[in-house]
Amino acid sequence: MQDIISLIEAKYKALQHDPSTFLKGLYHSKPLTYWDYIQLETLMSLQRPKTDYPDEYIFIVYHQISELLLGLISHELKQVVDTESGRAATLHDITEKVERINRYAAILDNSFAVMSRGMDYHQYNEFRLALAPASGFQAVSFRYIELYCTELDNLIRPEMKPNVPNDADVATKLKYVYWQDAGKNHKTGERSLMLKFFEEKYLDSLIKDGERLKGHNLYAQLKDKELPEALKHALRKLDYLFNIKWPLSHLMTAETYLMAAGHKTASTGMSDWQKYLHPSYQKRCFFPMVWSDEEKEKWGTFVID
Ligand code: HEM
Repeated sequence: MQDIISLIEAKYKALQHDPSTFLKGLYHSKPLTYWDYIQLETLMSLQRPKTDYPDEYIFIVYHQISELLLGLISHELKQVVDTESGRAATLHDITEKVERINRYAAILDNSFAVMSRGMDYHQYNEFRLALAPASGFQAVSFRYIELYCTELDNLIRPEMKPNVPNDADVATKLKYVYWQDAGKNHKTGERSLMLKFFEEKYLDSLIKDGERLKGHNLYAQLKDKELPEALKHALRKLDYLFNIKWPLSHLMTAETYLMAAGHKTASTGMSDWQKYLHPSYQKRCFFPMVWSDEEKEKWGTFVID
């Protein structure tokens, strides 16, 4: 007991703070509870449906769950990419982190039936009308994860690459990435409200992160290295879960709710969604060095373990 009191004394003296003030505060403080630690009341007050349809609650909660999982993915990526101490992460550290990320990505995909089968078709098609022009497209967490994982060049569709100027900087490259196709008419340059609002809020920060992470993201750190089998396997799995499997589950869900009698309905974000959302159109691949040319060619049309 005396040891810990001595440590506390030393700590607060070093901070030029009176240790007894801290100890008195500790004496008065209430014991911690689960509900305060988890911020339970705040958490359960964050769902604000726009309509009275009960299934809108499921829609909001599931998006929030997705955001928390995406937050866990970013949390792991930051630890191997933003190595503040200047110490590069080892291949062993990276393998462990990518395996953790894959567990979160698998939850994202495995749980998607909550959306695809878990809401009433008619309720969804009523409450979604109150949500335009908002769209999951505006979930910036996906875009930050992309920048942590790979170079912008890997987010530009092969058909679009010849249009990118040779000396393009990050801001220019961001005008050509695949996600522009969801809301930009490349001929007229006109943008949908969904894309316009998204870029007004996030473009500056995406440019800043893109510049900071260029040549430094996970792909850049690994592309010229001899990779152990376990890491190669983990990177393939991450690419597959994030850039093929989840997008296909998501597209299938959009088809479930937005196709009526074989006719495509307009989405809240007004994209040409059926074409745009398919992985074989986007050809988004974070780690091209772990895939064969044939696999890259057939992107979005095969399954891996
Ligand atoms: C019933 C459920 C859902 C439907 C019908 C749906 C539909 C769509 C559609 C049609 C788009 C294309 C953009 C647009 O025109 O609005 C889109 C994009 C997107 N949605 Fe969803 N979505 C659903 C659930 C979710 C969930 C739970 C998430 C998780 C956060 C999500 C994240 C995204 C993302 C990240 C994009 C952009 C995809 C990309 O750029 O590749 N969506 N969604």
